[in-house]
Amino acid sequence: LSMIEMFSNIRNYTVRFSEEPNFLDFHERLKFFCYFVDENVWGLYSADLLRTLPRDGTIVLKISEDRKNLDTVQEIYNDLIHRSAKRNLTVISIGGGILQDITGFAASTLYRGINWIFIPTTLLAQADSCIGSKTSLNYQGYKNLIGTFYPPSEVYIYTPFLASLTDLDFFSGLGEVVKLHMMGGAEKTAEFKELLPSVIGRDANVLERCVKNSLLIKKSYMEGDEFDTGKRNLLNFGHTLGHALEVVTDYRIPHGQAVIIGIIFANIAARNRGFLSKNGFDRLLSTLLSALPISTTMAPQDFDEEIIIKAMRMDKKRTGEDFALVIIKDDYTMVKIIDFKSEEISRSLAELRELLL
Ligand SMILES: NC(=O)c1ccc[n+]([C@@H]2O[C@H](COP(=O)([O-])OP(=O)(O)OC[C@H]3O[C@@H](n4cnc5c(N)ncnc54)[C@H](O)[C@@H]3O)[C@@H](O)[C@H]2O)c1
Ligand SMILES: [Zn+2]
Repeated sequence: LSMIEMFSNIRNYTVRFSEEPNFLDFHERLKFFCYFVDENVWGLYSADLLRTLPRDGTIVLKISEDRKNLDTVQEIYNDLIHRSAKRNLTVISIGGGILQDITGFAASTLYRGINWIFIPTTLLAQADSCIGSKTSLNYQGYKNLIGTFYPPSEVYIYTPFLASLTDLDFFSGLGEVVKLHMMGGAEKTAEFKELLPSVIGRDANVLERCVKNSLLIKKSYMEGDEFDTGKRNLLNFGHTLGHALEVVTDYRIPHGQAVIIGIIFANIAARNRGFLSKNGFDRLLSTLLSALPISTTMAPQDFDEEIIIKAMRMDKKRTGEDFALVIIKDDYTMVKIIDFKSEEISRSLAELRELLL
């Protein structure tokens, strides 16, 4: 498998897996282009992989979660509107999920949409966000409040980029990879568990296999629900508590790790309701824990019940008084249960605390 075809209401596109770094020739193929490169990626790769990029057509962008906003998008507009190319311009983005969100939003809005090619360089972006067709910006302290649906026209995945990720960024991406494999069923979960030591050792071939699995599974949940109204919602597995934990810890816990903890929490709640047997629970738990190296840095105050429940109440996807959680059953089918009572949430939270601290 060297490519995945994505079908989208906006435009169909292709994800290509490259063995060699020879895909970076857009400046030779396109008349009007502008590369945007994450500053850290540029620092690591400008002397080798990225050395052929033309300097006058390359913008190195400083990225951070607090630069994922309209100000940075305006910097990009200001840069691009002075170029002679207008609607025929192609933006080529090289970086992680933050660069994807900022430049994708800019590309989707400038001149009502210009051509956009994305080369993801983090595990999260390669295995998950590159096919979401969403772009998001933070606004007034709220995460991902503004955004558009706009898939890139082409995605190129080159897994050797993953070798240089910090452990923190690597494990953050790994959380979504675990989530997607579980959502892919018993076989994919078992395969992942077996590969996990090589994944953590960053074996490029194994990583490529996991990235492909993840994208194919995500694609299967997106099919027919690009705009996130039904089945795609299940991709929120682990995210209800995950988001709350991120907020409570002021984003000290990286997203993917918060998601893993969120999945453990959802599994506890599912077990308490009888959706998951003790065996099923234990089997999933061992895989989850082996992809969670930071559990030891968790502190009791991170699980403060009052604050977490308050954060969960703020969940923008929530309706009514009860709590909704996506859960997994023994046979690995996924369902969204929308009537968890606050006592159930408290009890599951207490059990989670017991388990992790
Ligand atoms: N649009 C979507 O569908 C979608 C989906 C999920 C997440 N997101 C967003 O993605 C963001 C997180 O993305 P991320 O985890 O990729 O983080 P990121 O873009 O912040 O990258 C993490 C860090 O790794 C660095 N980096 C990137 N590539 C590297 C490489 N090859 N080697 C070494 N360092 C490298 C970056 O400079 C950064 O410091 C969040 O803002 C999240 O909201 C968007
Ligand atoms: Zn996520």
